[in-house]
Amino acid sequence: MKKFLGLMLVVVLLLSISLSFAQSLTEIKKRGKLLVGTEPTFPPFEFVDEKNQVVGFDVDIANELAKRLGVKLEIVNLPFDSLIPALQQGKIDMIIAGMTITAERAKVVDFSKSYFEANQAIVVRKDGKFEPKKLEELAGKKVAVQLGTTGDLVVSDISGINVVRFQKFTDAFLELQNGRVDAVVLDEAPAKAYVKKFPKFSISAVVDTGETYGIAVKKGNKELLNFVNQTLDILKSSGAYGKLIQKWFE
Ligand code: ARG
Repeated sequence: MKKFLGLMLVVVLLLSISLSFAQSLTEIKKRGKLLVGTEPTFPPFEFVDEKNQVVGFDVDIANELAKRLGVKLEIVNLPFDSLIPALQQGKIDMIIAGMTITAERAKVVDFSKSYFEANQAIVVRKDGKFEPKKLEELAGKKVAVQLGTTGDLVVSDISGINVVRFQKFTDAFLELQNGRVDAVVLDEAPAKAYVKKFPKFSISAVVDTGETYGIAVKKGNKELLNFVNQTLDILKSSGAYGKLIQKWFE
């Protein structure tokens, strides 16, 4: 019995050692692929194109990271509110999903330096019947958001609001189109992308929330975080970042 317990202890120790190194750069290289988690209904950061591929600004950054590691990129699509749990469980190496750096999230994951600035936008139907200029005007209305996003957080603070939470922004906009909700609240750049695609919608207001996006790695994974920050620096100083902005935002 004692021998067995001793053996079990060794096995558990070895397992935990191998798990804690699971996302080191060497492990990723050995595996030959970088696992990047995202939620792809967020154009132009990540969305599914005509060829059924996930593309976008974030995906290009993910590709640069994989290229610099000399590995393939695997995009792992998940609901937005499942990304952090997946990272914590080691199912993905990092999250690149237009994710806002918040104090709450920074308690459980580590964020890279910020790579984009954002505010929230209110999207409505273009018929001119309801054009809220402020968040408070959403009181008493039915508003769609993506579950677990900062948009969800800001509208959930409004008293008397009826918040409908979706996993996909595409579903939130379907509800807006069908008249089942009065507005959708989401980050400005994706709001613009949806309005461009569906001329029946318009942005009635942009709410200054002063958000910045970061790439998230597992808490304590300094090696990977340094690598991500270094890559962001290189992309910026080489002009590659500016080219990506041009490619996806102009
Ligand atoms: N920036 C917002 C947040 O962090 C929304 C991000 C949604 N991203 C996505 N890929 N669906 O909560």
